Amino acid sequence: MDLTVTACRPGNLERLLDLFDAEFVRGRGRTVPLRRRFPHILRPEALDTLFTASSGDVLCGGAAVRKFVWKAGGRLWQGAMVGMVCTAPQFRGRGVGSALLRGLTVKLSKGSVDFAVLWTSKHRFYERLGWKAHLDLGQLGRIDFTEKPPAQPPLIPRGFGEVDLDRIESCRSQHCSSLVLRTALDYRALPFPADSVEFFFWDRAPKAVGYAIVGRQGSTGYLYELVSRTEDFHVFLSSFASAYTTLFVNEHSSGLFYNWLRNRPLGTWDHQDQTLWFLLSREMSTVDLSAWHIPYIDRM
Ligand SMILES: CC(C)(COP(=O)(O)OP(=O)(O)OC[C@H]1O[C@@H](n2cnc3c(N)ncnc32)[C@H](O)[C@@H]1OP(=O)(O)O)[C@@H](O)C(=O)NCCC(=O)NCCS
Repeated sequence: MDLTVTACRPGNLERLLDLFDAEFVRGRGRTVPLRRRFPHILRPEALDTLFTASSGDVLCGGAAVRKFVWKAGGRLWQGAMVGMVCTAPQFRGRGVGSALLRGLTVKLSKGSVDFAVLWTSKHRFYERLGWKAHLDLGQLGRIDFTEKPPAQPPLIPRGFGEVDLDRIESCRSQHCSSLVLRTALDYRALPFPADSVEFFFWDRAPKAVGYAIVGRQGSTGYLYELVSRTEDFHVFLSSFASAYTTLFVNEHSSGLFYNWLRNRPLGTWDHQDQTLWFLLSREMSTVDLSAWHIPYIDRM
């Protein structure tokens, strides 16, 4: 097949978004279009990070990249998340997906990116193309709240419009030794399968001392990020018990909240080994990737 892999041209954006929605939204019985879930990634202003594979005028496949800055080990790294890798059904098995991934990593390697990362269960497809799994400390927990919730929930969930992002950022800089640098738009992400995202704050005037970001689908919560002092974890847990019947917890094995829950013991846990890396800069050979865990809310 005569394929060209390029950054998305303006005239192709709608077709590309429709290809993504056909596969990842309509094809999976979902309704919320991807541009509403990822308004910080699928933007007309970011066409240079959306990739298409075409044969002549025919769009055969596409993928999205989110470039980001990762602060870890006392320095800043240039990262690129890859997602929505997709070949139109009629072109599968003809090398489109492979060409797309190869073209995309070549372009990233020319653009001072240190590493690319993605999350998948299809390891074989990516490993053939040079992506590598390293020890992944991801954990997904499930807590079913069976006891009656407290009558007076300590923290009331708030919507995005009611949130002061500076307070989140001040907590992050205080508590997180590694983090993705975020803009206000990055907080508009709506990860699968949530219908909305809620924010919990634990305030001690004049500033917030902890916060949580949780997706909601019906009465189920999906905890994406909890940043707080350990002694305040119980406040968040009882607030979650008031707000949800079941809570899925995205954590990692060295995470404070994970270890706090394991000591209770609360919840059942599944090890997640979905992270694949593509190393681009020479400095990456010095990094222990098992210590790098990108929070769920930042992922694509
Ligand atoms: C995964 C996907 C992008 C592959 O695209 P494609 O154009 O068919 O891929 P290629 O033709 O380049 O496939 C090359 C190889 O990958 C293998 N492969 C394809 N899909 C695979 C999958 N789902 N799991 C494992 N291997 C896969 C093929 O068998 C082929 O191997 P071979 O060369 O040894 O025969 C395509 O199947 C797709 O769009 N799937 C739906 C969306 C999706 O799941 N995306 C991935 C999100 S993580």
